[in-house]
Amino acid sequence: MFEKVKKCMDEFVYECGHKQTIKLYNHISQGKMLRSSLIIEIAGQSEKTIQLCAVIEMIHLASLLHDDVIDEAPLRRGKETIHKLYDTKTAIMLGDLLYSKAFSKLTLMDKDIAFCVSNAVTSLSIGEMLDIELSNSFNTNLETYIDMIEKKTASLIEASTKSASILANKNQTNFAIYGNSIGLCFQIIDDILDVTQDSSTLGKPCLLDFKEGKTTIVYILLYQNLSQTDKNRLKSYFKKDLNQDQQNWIKQMIHKHDIISKTKQICKNIAKDGLDAIKNEENKKLFDIINNIIDREK
Ligand code: IPE
Ligand code: IPE
Ligand code: MG
Ligand code: MG
Ligand code: MG
Repeated sequence: MFEKVKKCMDEFVYECGHKQTIKLYNHISQGKMLRSSLIIEIAGQSEKTIQLCAVIEMIHLASLLHDDVIDEAPLRRGKETIHKLYDTKTAIMLGDLLYSKAFSKLTLMDKDIAFCVSNAVTSLSIGEMLDIELSNSFNTNLETYIDMIEKKTASLIEASTKSASILANKNQTNFAIYGNSIGLCFQIIDDILDVTQDSSTLGKPCLLDFKEGKTTIVYILLYQNLSQTDKNRLKSYFKKDLNQDQQNWIKQMIHKHDIISKTKQICKNIAKDGLDAIKNEENKKLFDIINNIIDREK
């Protein structure tokens, strides 16, 4: 099924007829296809489903190209990022190309789907803006963080589940809540993995968030749990290139204060809303997807 989505994306990109664009696009590996899995699980397999998946995966990929420029990330899906391999200008334009191609395909789809997905890209972009703004100082406010990740990540995942429910004539409100909750959990786990995993497992950098000024939920909870002296020490490491001892201290503190379980507990509470919204659905896989996201290790 994912091969069909990939083939459809290839066709959409090849349609632009620009050799360099196709070459750059072909350099990028396939991702986990979470958004497509959700769409297919909700709307079943059909030509329309595949096209919707392709459009959403292209939008997602465009957002990653821009995100890697913003985060100055050298690695994506196990390969060197486009802005490192070429330059920032090329990465931005490849992102724009993918966005615009996806939007032109959206205009050929159901009007409500086109509205829902394009609106999500506005939210995603505001979310990335907020992420940049928040990285100017050490954010210790959990609500501000949740609002930001809801926009930057949950919006497109919510648009995926909602537009799939439109295709399948299912309850749009419930599937939007389900997608929103998955999106929040997905980003929280992504932020955990940044501190707990190594780069080769993730196929992207680890321990990059704090260096880039991103006080993710892990750092917010850690900060709340530290003594005043240690709070000051953590703040002094903010946005710095840390040596091994300093990195180890952060990891020890995370371990000592049980921050990962505390973060996962928040994630499980958020997941409850999503699970509740689809409680009348017969499809057990929809429940498994949320649980697998919380348990994922890459
Ligand atoms: C990465 O998304 C960006 C986040 C929202 C955390 P994915 O983890 O879905 O990326 P790929 O598509 O699998 O590479
Ligand atoms: C980005 O979040 C989410 C997007 C909307 C692109 P991150 O910056 O945490 O994503 P990764 O870790 O680079 O994949
Ligand atoms: Mg990033
Ligand atoms: Mg980012
Ligand atoms: Mg991340």
